[in-house]
Amino acid sequence: MHDFLTVCEQAARAGGAVLQDWVDRITIREKGPKDLVTEADFASQRAIRQIVLSAFPDHQFVGEECDSADDHPLIALNHGAFRWIVDPLDGTLNYVRGMPSYSVSVALERSGELLAGVVFDPMLDECFTAAAGQGAFLNERPIHASRRTSLADALVAISFSSNVGRGSIEVKRFIEALHTAQSIRRTGSAALNLCYVGAGRLDGYFASSIQPWDVAAGVLIARESGAAITSITGRDFDLWRPDVAAAGTAELHAELIQALSRAE
Ligand code: IPD
Ligand code: CA
Ligand code: CA
Repeated sequence: MHDFLTVCEQAARAGGAVLQDWVDRITIREKGPKDLVTEADFASQRAIRQIVLSAFPDHQFVGEECDSADDHPLIALNHGAFRWIVDPLDGTLNYVRGMPSYSVSVALERSGELLAGVVFDPMLDECFTAAAGQGAFLNERPIHASRRTSLADALVAISFSSNVGRGSIEVKRFIEALHTAQSIRRTGSAALNLCYVGAGRLDGYFASSIQPWDVAAGVLIARESGAAITSITGRDFDLWRPDVAAAGTAELHAELIQALSRAE
């Protein structure tokens, strides 16, 4: 496990260094409506892939950006294989605007179990790490989720998909949370939202539609910090169909799920 986490952190930090190197010379392209990508996304993923596959040549690699057929997120994945799940730049819009709240997310998964995860914020030099059963850390110091139990006292973050339908369930859930939580944030990085739940900066987080690479590392980090994590309707979290609800305590999590269910 130690080797996995060491390589995970090396890879995430290397991706972050690439992002900072590219920051003033990127050109921006739209992958889809309101969905941006830059050379930095690809260059970061190449650096991460090289480190991971040099260390573990027989592991699978699932990255958001596809340079080649081998990288494609939708390649058939063997059950039981070690899979690295990578977002080389989470929060691309913040990155291109020179705003804080972007990160590199690298996780290792096998048979549905998250084994190691690192989220690195290169602007703030914050590195969140976790290995299964071994706790979560920020720059090598242990982190713990908040102890708040009431939604009325809770600071809760949300991620939206890039195209949010008018009057959609995403919007309705947002409105329910807006009316019941102390306040709401949309940072633009799902990975960092989960880490901030882990660090007790946020009390809760939810997303109706998200990708495995957005949340794989963050879910492990938040879980290892003591946070409660399920799907948005309270079922077991499923990395391959990820909607997510996270909260620092079981009580707050139950209240969050109940509030979100009023949108159904
Ligand atoms: C985005 C972030 C954001 C989520 C979007 C993602 P990207 O990632 O994770 O929190 O709401 O759906 O697309 O595109 O910057 O990697
Ligand atoms: Ca992302
Ligand atoms: Ca991305």
